Amino acid sequence: MSDADLHDFPSLFSLKGKVAVVTGGSRGLGLSAASALLQAGASKVFITSRKAKACEEAVAKLNSLPNLQPGAKAISVPADSATIEGIKSLLEQVKKHTDHVDILLANAGATWGEAFDKHSDAAFAKVMDLNVKSVFNTIREFAPLLEKRGTIEDPSRVLITASVAGIGIGTLGKQGTFGYSASKAAVAHLGRNLAIELGPRHVTVNSIAPGWFPTKMSSGLLKMGGGVEAIAKENPLRKLGKPDDIAGIVVFLCSRAGAHVNAETIAIDGGAVWARGELQSKL
Ligand SMILES: NC(=O)c1ccc[n+]([C@@H]2O[C@H](COP(=O)([O-])OP(=O)(O)OC[C@H]3O[C@@H](n4cnc5c(N)ncnc54)[C@H](OP(=O)(O)O)[C@@H]3O)[C@@H](O)[C@H]2O)c1
Repeated sequence: MSDADLHDFPSLFSLKGKVAVVTGGSRGLGLSAASALLQAGASKVFITSRKAKACEEAVAKLNSLPNLQPGAKAISVPADSATIEGIKSLLEQVKKHTDHVDILLANAGATWGEAFDKHSDAAFAKVMDLNVKSVFNTIREFAPLLEKRGTIEDPSRVLITASVAGIGIGTLGKQGTFGYSASKAAVAHLGRNLAIELGPRHVTVNSIAPGWFPTKMSSGLLKMGGGVEAIAKENPLRKLGKPDDIAGIVVFLCSRAGAHVNAETIAIDGGAVWARGELQSKL
């Protein structure tokens, strides 16, 4: 085979027949990712979040997409990822429909904004529990299903939604996200450890680190920071993230094209995390 002879290029970005679970899939980045997985050919995408109604509404939207593979479907499996009981219930619900999982998006997360002097033990614990401990528990509980079909050529995939708040400095001051920023740095490093542990079991683990995307979670902080337009102007690309930006990276990492990427944290923020120097140079 010459260097020009790629192996089956037309299928390089295809997710045909893949089975995926998306935590926090009922809205925001998780819903965009789920939509991309289905449109790239996935056969089953399980949507989970705490509210059953929200999961059902998301599944209805996904199942009415015009360009799905025949028989492909999104399935609602509500559960609270913050508790081990919730994660075990999620696993049992998924097992009723499939004996394996190819793709796990550990995306559910929470944030908390409060000044340093008032930032409480409970607030810190809440974000660390959901954003770090629950991600570990979810990956551990799903590992047997992920290992079922993973191979050297096409490993199963875990994607963790971290944040650029865990790479640069997050929000400080009145709405300080101290616990959140620490949780996102922690979960990306957890991902690197799991990538090396699970690689030999044919499961890759990578993290995506979004910058600002307008969603329910970010809306309050975006408003307080001067609004979407003002914050977009500060970005090196002069825009915030949009659903396509999540879709592209998720499909790449979950497809054969991303099969040799492991233990990485990929920022999707237009370069904003490094832009402080650019802004300061204008002062
Ligand atoms: N938007 C941004 O600018 C941005 C930037 C960087 C990173 N992120 C990260 O991206 C991920 C998704 O955030 P988003 O912006 O898409 O927020 P979002 O629109 O508020 O969505 C959060 C999702 O998580 C679910 N969820 C929350 N707590 C849960 C729990 N205990 N168990 C199960 N599901 C739960 C929510 O549904 P229910 O309420 O029904 O549970 C919802 O589906 C998070 O990890 C967040 O930290 C977001």
